[in-house]
Amino acid sequence: MGILEGKTALITGASRGIGLAIAQRFAAEGAAVVLCASRLGSHGDLKGTLEDAVAAIVSGGGRAAAEACDLSDAVARADLVERAQKHFGPLDIVVNNAAASIVSLPSETSLKQRNLMYEVNLNAPVDIAQQVLPGMRSRRQGWILNISSASARQSVVPYRDSQIAAHVICAYGATKAALDRYSQGLAHEVAADGICINTLAPESIVLTAGANYVREIARRSPDMAEPVEMMAEAALTLCSERFIGQVCFSRQLLHTHGVKVRSLDGAVELGDAFLPADLENMA
Ligand SMILES: NC(=O)c1ccc[n+]([C@@H]2O[C@H](COP(=O)([O-])OP(=O)(O)OC[C@H]3O[C@@H](n4cnc5c(N)ncnc54)[C@H](OP(=O)(O)O)[C@@H]3O)[C@@H](O)[C@H]2O)c1
Repeated sequence: MGILEGKTALITGASRGIGLAIAQRFAAEGAAVVLCASRLGSHGDLKGTLEDAVAAIVSGGGRAAAEACDLSDAVARADLVERAQKHFGPLDIVVNNAAASIVSLPSETSLKQRNLMYEVNLNAPVDIAQQVLPGMRSRRQGWILNISSASARQSVVPYRDSQIAAHVICAYGATKAALDRYSQGLAHEVAADGICINTLAPESIVLTAGANYVREIARRSPDMAEPVEMMAEAALTLCSERFIGQVCFSRQLLHTHGVKVRSLDGAVELGDAFLPADLENMA
């Protein structure tokens, strides 16, 4: 029996990257997962589609369904939870993982760019939480995990790597700082109803399409990259145990609580999130 057997989960931004890894790990533990991204099929030259992601989980024996929704559009996302619950029933878990990250110096980031990032990174997670909370409250159980970023804080000087990386994610980082703050307040409001809300960020760089602009930094300093399995395992921990109002980092959380990292299909124990040798096994 997987630890999420009988549970249902909605994961946004699950067509690729960290969201897909979380969906795969949850499905391997028995959850029925609804994967959301802005569209079903391919767009641009990005690898991986929502359809491919669902097919991969189903072909591995998991239960998965797709729900396309442009989360930057308040009208389109207004009934996302209702639509998601038509697949496998009431949601026990929501992972707000989708994000818009526009690389631009803080002095140049336009209102249009800022609005897009605030819509996808802050307003969508809050709207989705507000849609799912009444059901979770009535069942007196639920988990909401919002995916954040270390860029919520300004890098310390002297900057460890490129000054560009310290500044061009300022507006994006501001949306994640707001998400951390909102999540903590909401977590404490609903904790007495049995609902666990937390945020989780990668400790370093996960080499996804969304992290392309820092790929060169990770290439030059491999210790600044982390395998996607670490985020998936940390997300599983936060969506199956009773943490409340935490702003967590993947490696720190796993190491502090002695959680071993497993492969996305759950079959293999890859190691401790702390030991460099184990990290190499995961890369
Ligand atoms: N990678 C890192 O090192 C890193 C570091 C810090 C924080 N994070 C956070 O981790 C999360 C995942 O990052 P990632 O690197 O895996 O990202 P990614 O590879 O760029 O994937 C982003 C996902 O979000 C979806 N998405 C984007 N805009 C959307 C919209 N308007 N509506 C619906 N879905 C939308 C994309 O789907 P489609 O484009 O297919 O619609 C895709 O599935 C994000 O919250 C990010 O801020 C990542």
